[in-house]
Amino acid sequence: MMSIQDQTVVISGGTDGIGRCAAEQLAKSGARVLITGRSAEKARQVVDDINRWSVNQASYVTLDLSSPTSVRRAAQEILEQCQQINILINCAGIIAHTRQETPESYELTWATNHLGPFLLTNLLCDRIIDSAPGRIVIVSSAAHMTGHINFDDLQSIANVGMQKAYAQSKLANVMFARSLAGRLKHSGVTVNSLHPGFVATKLFREIDGIFRIFVSIGVRLFASSPEVAARTVVNLAASSEVAGVTGEYFDKFKVSRPSADALDEKACEQLWQFSKNAVGL
Ligand SMILES: NC(=O)c1ccc[n+]([C@@H]2O[C@H](COP(=O)([O-])OP(=O)(O)OC[C@H]3O[C@@H](n4cnc5c(N)ncnc54)[C@H](OP(=O)(O)O)[C@@H]3O)[C@@H](O)[C@H]2O)c1
Repeated sequence: MMSIQDQTVVISGGTDGIGRCAAEQLAKSGARVLITGRSAEKARQVVDDINRWSVNQASYVTLDLSSPTSVRRAAQEILEQCQQINILINCAGIIAHTRQETPESYELTWATNHLGPFLLTNLLCDRIIDSAPGRIVIVSSAAHMTGHINFDDLQSIANVGMQKAYAQSKLANVMFARSLAGRLKHSGVTVNSLHPGFVATKLFREIDGIFRIFVSIGVRLFASSPEVAARTVVNLAASSEVAGVTGEYFDKFKVSRPSADALDEKACEQLWQFSKNAVGL
């Protein structure tokens, strides 16, 4: 078995919250870590902090998941920097405050939380397979349980409320993980999604109104720290206990049953085909 010291980990959303803590924990265990971030300055700062103590030098690539052009450029840079990729962690995500469209006319939450990770993962997939054994971890959320893939309105035009858009995108994460796991069955690469718990991060910064009050009380009373939540991600990415487990949804450390929608094979395939067309693969 390959030790973590010989492994390269790519983490989207490694500049903040759960992703940053996961990057630090993996670097501490000896992995070579590449983080992505929207801002070069912020990403450089995180990498400099890690490189003060890390044995393997961490690096970064700038990436805006909401832009397919940015994803394609970033994937190219990652492939140039990493001759092997053993672990890909799709951690970056947002909860948008209002409905916004990207320059390519995609609803921002859908583009950032689903289409971007879908494209990035597919563009890095051959390198991960060539570096097998490998793992792909997709950070979803228990919020997916309330989500539905509205194939007639993936752009959330009629879908009132960004919570619904978030839940839909997190359901898409679980479905994507299951579809990809099926496609990579005999490749030596496992694919799983997870809910990292309710975590005190900046994810909720855009929520407003009455919801904001509930969330800030909830965060104070029930949320775990990003350091604790990151352990659930690191477990799925690197623990020998889950080696070979694929196509599953984890609630923190345990395999859990996702929503009925997530288990709908026909819908998973429909989502795959839609996403492929949407990002031009
Ligand atoms: N917090 C929770 O309670 C909770 C619960 C369940 C699931 N999750 C999931 O956990 C993941 C991490 O969230 P978090 O709580 O750690 O949130 P966070 O602290 O807000 O961190 C989000 C990360 O995503 C990056 N990001 C945002 N938009 C991006 C874009 N367009 N392109 C590239 N990167 C982008 C951010 O980069 P910048 O530094 O550039 O902002 C940041 O690194 C998300 O997928 C979220 O859905 C969180």
